[in-house]
Amino acid sequence: MCHETHFDADRLRVLARESKYLVMDRVSGRWVLLDPALEPLLPLIAQNSQDIPSAYRGSVAELRDSLIKEGLGISNSEKQFSVLNTLILKLTNACNLACQYCYDYEQQEHATTLALEHSRSAIRQALELASGTLWVILHGGEPMLMWRQVEELVKFGEQVATQLNKDIRFTGQSNFTRLNDRIVEFSLDHNISWGISLDGDARLNDRFRINHQGQGSYDHFFAAYRKYPKFVRQSSVMSTVTAANEGQLLQIARHFRDLGMAAWDWSLFQPIGRGRSQHMVYQPRQSRLLKSWHTLFDAVLDGEFDGFPILPVRKYLDNFIYGPAGNMCLRPQCGAARDLLSISADGTIEACDCIDPSGHLAGLGHLDHTTLNQAKASPVADTIRSRDMEQHPQCKDCIWFGICGGTCVAHAGRVDAVWSDGCAVAHTAFDRISQALADGQSLQRYLNSLN
Ligand SMILES: C[S@@+](CC[C@H](N)C(=O)[O-])C[C@H]1O[C@@H](n2cnc3c(N)ncnc32)[C@H](O)[C@@H]1O
Ligand code: SF4
Ligand code: SF4
Ligand code: SF4
Repeated sequence: MCHETHFDADRLRVLARESKYLVMDRVSGRWVLLDPALEPLLPLIAQNSQDIPSAYRGSVAELRDSLIKEGLGISNSEKQFSVLNTLILKLTNACNLACQYCYDYEQQEHATTLALEHSRSAIRQALELASGTLWVILHGGEPMLMWRQVEELVKFGEQVATQLNKDIRFTGQSNFTRLNDRIVEFSLDHNISWGISLDGDARLNDRFRINHQGQGSYDHFFAAYRKYPKFVRQSSVMSTVTAANEGQLLQIARHFRDLGMAAWDWSLFQPIGRGRSQHMVYQPRQSRLLKSWHTLFDAVLDGEFDGFPILPVRKYLDNFIYGPAGNMCLRPQCGAARDLLSISADGTIEACDCIDPSGHLAGLGHLDHTTLNQAKASPVADTIRSRDMEQHPQCKDCIWFGICGGTCVAHAGRVDAVWSDGCAVAHTAFDRISQALADGQSLQRYLNSLN
């Protein structure tokens, strides 16, 4: 009886796969693959028992119970994400490179750097707010230009975490051009994991990732790779996808696999900062991007990347299999101003580092006079959290809503808009993943190879 009260068949969507039917709760993202013999019963599960022909009543009740057992159609079964667990610190907006599309860099002489008391205060407050592990992401500009501050902050964070009986983990995103013995040693001692930004092999990377003299930056990476091979290989590579490398995803993935890197990820170009004025030069073309993604996915299915995490596939696969929680960008309530806050180099508190700092979703307050809690309670944060794409004309009938979330608000630029490329990739990825899981064992084999 209790189950009957809470079961909401309107949340369910059905999609025919090769040999099975996918039934998805489009709100919670839970799903099952059904035998085709059961598909004719699905339209009946919303009906009252007495309205169902008696011959089918038992089977329909059984089917409904099995869906409920898997957590489908249950109102309020979605997880909530309100506790801060991730803090991005933009230690400086200075950079020794001048990547042409960069949303955030200045030459050192014009740079702003995050005041030590601001970063300490943000870490302390974030630790007080966090319930489990606090992840601190060292960001910029180029965070390795601020190395002394990094060391101070890491030691400070570890000390406060111990006092508060909390757990803290530091990660960072860097161009690795300033790697030296001291950075390597300290990172290893304090378990800092780094992501390294490279857009492909030397030819692809050097198209836009250049220094202030206009020279490509791949050689700097390669020098670090040769000098500290073990350390560098522990890092995951992040490639920004632009018009220069949109069609080369498979080749890029192969390149970093062959170098023995820990994993490969992407971020799709966002037309803000320096990338804004010439955005047509950098913007990837959607049809080429999708074609390239399909080719990459086929290679994953074929086993070419077994043992090597291809995150442009894996993040969708994980979300599909384990549900929307782990990835704060692929869920209806994204991380911005919920489990995530970002501190800009001038001390401004943002909901996420991807929010356009000159746009209407920017600026939750300043560390001089706003606590992190007050920032989360600010009207701008409320506006960002008000994003609800469930009934958006584009998303309201989409089977993937629960595991997509309606795309990134920062990329969309407005709380009520869909980011077209994000939508197209999510659609493509979930369609291929669900088909592959229904068809055979290739994806499960790939997933098992990563564990
Ligand atoms: C701004 S950088 C800061 C950290 C460090 N300097 C680096 O390059 O990794 C962080 C990441 O943002 C990416 N990025 C920069 N501008 C971007 C843009 N307009 N759109 C999407 N990603 C961008 C970079 O390629 C890099 O992977
Ligand atoms: S992407 Fe990173 S390395 Fe390139 S200019 Fe921006 S901050 Fe510097
Ligand atoms: S953004 Fe696209 S893929 Fe995501 S829920 Fe909306 S329509 Fe579906
Ligand atoms: S604003 Fe975009 S990048 Fe930031 S947490 Fe939300 S979905 Fe992710």
